[in-house]
Parts: sequence; C-alpha cells; structure tokens
Amino acid sequence: MNDLHTARPTLDFEPYWMPFTSNRTFKHSPRLVASAQGMHFTTVAGKRVLDGLATLWCVNAGHCHPRIAGAIAAQAAKLDFCSSFSLGHPLAFEAARRIAAIAPEGLDHVFFTNSGSEAVDTALKMALAYHRLRGEGSRTRFIGRERGYHGVNLGGISVSGVPANRKAFGGNLLAADHLRHTHDPAARAFVRGAASTGADLADELESRIIPLHDASNIAAVIVEPVAGAGGVLVPPAGYLQRLREICTKHGILLIFDEVITGFGRLGRPFASQFFGVMPDLVTFAKGVTSGSVPLGGVLASRAVYDMFMNAAAPGIELFHGYTYSGHPLAAAACVATLDTYAEETLFERVNEIAPYFEDGVHSMKGLPHVVDCRNLKLIGAVELAPRPGAPGARALEVFARAWDRGVYVRPIGDSIAFCPPLIVERRHLDEMFGVVAQTIREVQ
Ligand SMILES: Cc1ncc(COP(=O)(O)O)c(C=O)c1O
Repeated sequence: MNDLHTARPTLDFEPYWMPFTSNRTFKHSPRLVASAQGMHFTTVAGKRVLDGLATLWCVNAGHCHPRIAGAIAAQAAKLDFCSSFSLGHPLAFEAARRIAAIAPEGLDHVFFTNSGSEAVDTALKMALAYHRLRGEGSRTRFIGRERGYHGVNLGGISVSGVPANRKAFGGNLLAADHLRHTHDPAARAFVRGAASTGADLADELESRIIPLHDASNIAAVIVEPVAGAGGVLVPPAGYLQRLREICTKHGILLIFDEVITGFGRLGRPFASQFFGVMPDLVTFAKGVTSGSVPLGGVLASRAVYDMFMNAAAPGIELFHGYTYSGHPLAAAACVATLDTYAEETLFERVNEIAPYFEDGVHSMKGLPHVVDCRNLKLIGAVELAPRPGAPGARALEVFARAWDRGVYVRPIGDSIAFCPPLIVERRHLDEMFGVVAQTIREVQ
C-alpha cells in the first residue's frame, strides 16, 4: 500500500456508506484527506495532492480561503440557524441580491436549496406550477439530454442521461424524453473550444420530440450548457441558441443547469452570459460558496416569478422549500465567496489562463489510447479508447496512479476531467498535465 493510502489504524470504516464510491474498494485502499489549502489537499499521511478538479467542480476560490472561512465562523457564532418559512434573516436577502446582481439581465429572483440536485428538482417543480398557473396544466413532460447529469433526486435522474444513475431505480421516473448528446469524436475530435459543426443536433427538438409529444404536453427542456459529469461535452457553436429559439416558439421553458458552469468556470459569472443565451431558469450550487457550505438554488426570470406573484391564490405562492433554504452559514459563505471572486478578479483570471490550460489539455494528443481532447475556458477532458471488454478501466487507472503521484483528476467513463480552482497557476497546470501524461503512457 502506498503511504498516501495509509489510514489511521484506529479508524472504523464500516459504518459510513459512502456516496458514488465503491465502498468495498475504498475501505480496502482508502484515500483520506486531512486538510486543504489553496490548490492542495494534505492527506492523513502528510502528502500534498494538487486539486485538479476543484474537488468535484466546487472550490473555485481555492481551499480554506481565509475570508470565506472567517465569515462562516463569525456567522456560526452570531446566528447559527433561522428558518426561512415565514421568517427571515438579512444575510439570505443579501446573498440573493448579490447573486441576482451578477446573473444575466432579467434572471433576478433566487430560490435557495442546499444542493444542485435539489436545485434541479426545484426548477422542474417551478416549471410544472408555472404552466398550471398559465392555464396549461397539461405541460408535464420534461426534455433532458443523453449524457446529461442533473443530480440524483427523482426529478433529476428522470431528465438525466447517464444510464448507470437511472437503471437501479426502475422505469417509473417522471415523464421525460431526451435529446441526443452532442459528443461525436468521429466527426469532431481534438476541437479547441466549441466545434463549428453540430448545431443542427438541436433541431431534433422540433423535428422529432415536439411532434411526438406535442408542445402542449412539454413543460421544459433542461440541459447543462457544458455537460460536466457526463464527460465534459462542449456544445457546438450555435446549439444553445437554437434550443432557445425552438423553446420560445413552442412556449416551452428552457432551464440551464449551471451547477458546474456557474460562478466563473467560463470566465463569466454564468455560462448563459458566455453563450449569450437567456434561459428562463438557471440552477446553481457548488461555486456559489466555493464548496465551503452546502448551498444551491434556482435563478428565475422575472416572467416566471411574476406569474407566481400575480396568478397564485392568496397565501403561499409556491408550496416548496427546504428547512435549510437560506441557511445563515450558507448565506454568509455565499456573500464572502462573491466578495472573494470580485476582489481577486477570479473570473477574469479564467480568461487569462484559459489559453495555457487549452494547450495543456491538447498536449495529450498523440499519447497512447488518446482519442479526443476537448476544452472550454477552464474545463476540459482527455478521452481514452476503452480497454476491450473493460470500458472505463483505463481512465480509472490513470486517476488512481495520478493520485498516488500527488494529482487529483476525475475519471468519467473513458475520459479524464480537468477543472481546477480558478486560482490555478501555470506551474500547477504543468504539474497536473505532466503527471497525467506520464500515467497515460504507462497504462495498458
Ligand atoms: C450539472 C449538475 N447538476 C446537478 C448536480 C447535483 O449537485 P449536487 O451533487 O450538489 O446535488 C451536479 C453535480 O455534480 C451537476 O454537475
């Protein structure tokens, strides 16, 4: 066992049922982190590991930022908890105002959840209730996309397109249909940024899906502007615009799931701004607190919000919410995080470092088994040919070996994802891509 895998001998691994993990493998060969700072974890064995994934696409400001940590500690001592059901506390309103202030013009109301999964299910419920208020209660079907990831709640897995996340839970999910995914390495491999072909993949919404179900039965289309957990799939140029046009024409709401792309990943606060496409609802989480306290939410357009305020019966307009919606610690973390992004101009930094990152991703071209490299701003992936009879095995091995060498990246199927904190420097990128290239060379 490598010393990075050494756990404290007294630790009882059994009671903790770990999420999205092979418990049997992990508990035999654990990777345990003791602390983190900036771009690095420190393992329980005292070894530093470079965080090449902003720890699941979250830690945009870097680990344990003193400003964020300080704000959370101060808030915990001042107001630990306050319900948001017919009560409130100022910081939740301030957090909503601050998020709306950097959101695309017109997306100006914020509903808080605790996670991305809850944000997705909240957005889906908003879409259903919105159409009902409009007198179009038959609009109950959702359209997602193959290889889309929208969290793990029942609504989210209904619209998601990752088969493994759906299969164990039966066929009786929400009524949904799926667009084809946009990944086609045979036609578009090793593209830097958005491909110039493929926008017509959006047309099947109008040519196949709407005729099949009828627009009067469709509530919303939900997509990630850049699919993340499905393998980092960059949309072809013009694809999202086309989806917007078709949705508008047919009275269908467009939801962008920006749980990964929100808060700077593409060099703008939201991907909606980067692509110049205005959805009706945006889900967010992760970067909103730089991962420090669980927080998610939905940004709603004025038209959606006003429908509830004007057409709902007197009293509660939306019978939905979580005990911890607008939690004081999350609100404090959010405000401090947004302050940090602004003061350290971290979104602008993405634009500065993105060309260097792009070169690093594409430096993998030509290595053994590499069939695609792709990137957009500060998110990217390299894809390996599957090992015959063992899909995903090569990427998993690269992940494990890279960790042992002190670099954390994520295997997704046969791809390896890169998504560093926005504070990343060139020397970190050199180390990350150098270690990954070295391990790719070794893997059979
Ligand atoms: C696009 C997207 N939506 C939703 C989620 C779910 O977020 P959470 O794990 O916070 O529930 C994720 C998580 O990675 C995500 O990437």
